[in-house]
Amino acid sequence: MKKLILALTFISVSFLSGESIKSPSGALTLKFFMTPSGQPGYSLTHGEQPVTGKSVLGVLFNDGPGFHTGLKLISADTSTHYEEWNPVWGEVKTIVNHYRELRVKLEQTKDKPAYCFITFRVFDDGIGFRYEFPVQDNLQYFTVKDELTTFNLSGNHKAFWIPGDFDSNEYPYKTTRLSDIDASGGSDFFEISTKSIVGKNVVQTPLMLKTEEGLYINIFEAALKDYPAMNVSVNKDNYELRAVLVPDAVGNKAYLQTPCSTPWRTIIVSDKAEEILSSKLILNLNEPSIIKETDWIKPQKYIGIWWEMHVGKASWNYSDVRNVKLAGFDWSKVQPNGKHGATTERTKYYIDFAAKHGFAGVLVEGWNVGWEDWFGNWKEDVFDFVTPYPDFNVKGLSEYAKAKGVKLIMHHETSASATNYERWIDSAFRFMNYYGYDAVKTGYVGRIIPRGEHHDGQWMVRHYVRVAEKAAAHKIMLNAHEPVRPTGLHRTYPNWLACEAARGNEFNAWSRGNPPEHETILPFTRLMGGPMDYTPGIFQIKMDYYTPGSKFQVHTTLAKQLALYITMYSPLQMAADIPENYDRFPDAFQFIKDVAVDWDDTKILAAEPGDYIVIARKTKGKDEWFIGAITDENSREITVDLSFLGKGAPYNAEIYKDGEDASWDDNPMSYKVEKAVYKTGDKITFRMAKGGGAAVRFSR
Ligand code: NOJ
Ligand code: CA
Repeated sequence: MKKLILALTFISVSFLSGESIKSPSGALTLKFFMTPSGQPGYSLTHGEQPVTGKSVLGVLFNDGPGFHTGLKLISADTSTHYEEWNPVWGEVKTIVNHYRELRVKLEQTKDKPAYCFITFRVFDDGIGFRYEFPVQDNLQYFTVKDELTTFNLSGNHKAFWIPGDFDSNEYPYKTTRLSDIDASGGSDFFEISTKSIVGKNVVQTPLMLKTEEGLYINIFEAALKDYPAMNVSVNKDNYELRAVLVPDAVGNKAYLQTPCSTPWRTIIVSDKAEEILSSKLILNLNEPSIIKETDWIKPQKYIGIWWEMHVGKASWNYSDVRNVKLAGFDWSKVQPNGKHGATTERTKYYIDFAAKHGFAGVLVEGWNVGWEDWFGNWKEDVFDFVTPYPDFNVKGLSEYAKAKGVKLIMHHETSASATNYERWIDSAFRFMNYYGYDAVKTGYVGRIIPRGEHHDGQWMVRHYVRVAEKAAAHKIMLNAHEPVRPTGLHRTYPNWLACEAARGNEFNAWSRGNPPEHETILPFTRLMGGPMDYTPGIFQIKMDYYTPGSKFQVHTTLAKQLALYITMYSPLQMAADIPENYDRFPDAFQFIKDVAVDWDDTKILAAEPGDYIVIARKTKGKDEWFIGAITDENSREITVDLSFLGKGAPYNAEIYKDGEDASWDDNPMSYKVEKAVYKTGDKITFRMAKGGGAAVRFSR
């Protein structure tokens, strides 16, 4: 089903300068203006409330005047666009893309005359705008020195932020007023492998804000494909945010060739926190799928030889030798360390477990040679992605998995040597096709090669996209760890199921971890751009179970780990704990077995960043609903209305909740499973422990 109505209206320039356009319902008003010095700008209001005051725009070039001052407004066109489209997978079956557009043409007359466009799209829940550079005689190749985009905020808002960093987004969030941001402390996070902190006043996007009046504002970008990622600097005198682009190895920001455009800069705004989470603005600003036949793309749950390495029970490396030169290395001469996780036997055990409990995939990390010295040496030829360790029988296992109806998921840790990965990728993907693997988890731990580049710079942004395109050509689904954070590109590349690109559950295994509020903030920040492979489902919560005396733990109750399958949307969800732990708690494990990963509908029932989230989702093609509810470090009770349930016969509910005495720190594994009956319009109350949560399945 596709409906498209496009209406074009041309407005004369004299009218427009200083004039405004409204969103389809009139909820938002965007004003465009030119300053007396010829710089373009905009302001945005939500009803009567200012979102941004006068905010100037522009792009500076290295090799020409660029487009920032001395510009002439040549024309301004408006149009209205309405469309409904169906994502290949997602939180809802149908997405409405409805906006009014304003496209201004600006001319630079200083040097050789050149022009650009700024296109604004005004939706009811926010705006997107970008700079567009058509093909023209005087503008073909150019280097971006800086982008002067600003967001001139109306006050000293509450901000949920992580430090501006060119390489890592694996920080816990801080919540402060804009004036109290101090982003220089990132160096305390020794557990983050590669950091490039920008400075005291620079934070990352997505940046979540809340005004004194209760307006929620999210600042981010969409469709980042051929450009560096955008951080923002905060001016504490006037609360103006300004774009800070990730530089390349020689300090430039982007190399562009016309026709081209920047990513969309986005402002999502609502007086309801729930509407920030249900916004589809970022997806709508991305291009439709380039993949025509999509039946091979399968949302799924998976298990993996993975957590046992993170908790120190097993190793990725086969031996403890410290210097491996891959070419010609004789693995038969090497003494195994006796801890290697990815053995044929252990993999068979996982395949059996997946087959028994209905998991589609089994990830195996540490299957390939090179893990002995993979990290810390800034080594280029670290893995070849096609040579298994001697104790991993790739052929036998692929046959075994096939016979059991399970797919093995490939792991490609690149150790951030992107040049090496690009040299091997064709062979690696052919190897996967040959052995029947249809999904890959990539990883970028370490300092980037090409040396001097950053994880979030233009070179790497292009690399991640190349990998997604190549994977699509090989019918391979992709899950990238440590890439730039996603910006809705999964609309264009629906084989790109998920990314990590934030501080995942794994940090709880071996560091101070993630505070209980972490998962109540991530949906308002990192998840705005796309699904996260957060790896929920840890049942053995305290790490002293594995390492006596360890103080590390997941900052959660067991019931909250179940709720995360609903509150942290992803079409790819891991049951991250080791199978032996699921065998200890079969009644709680039942929820992970039952929970869906693809949805017809989603209702954000209650949400407040940093405090709580309650979401209901309807399974795709089935009369079945799930609810996930989570809280931060405070216990709380939340009552929600079940009027979204279908009419008619009542639903049987299986309720997974915190035990009376549960609490994330003292008694995290206390939970209860109850059965009840509910019908549409009933109310359900969740009492959540400190750091706790609840999960429900409704079926009939
Ligand atoms: C970091 C990834 O996030 C994690 O999932 C993986 O196990 C390790 N790198 C090793 O590749
Ligand atoms: Ca990681």
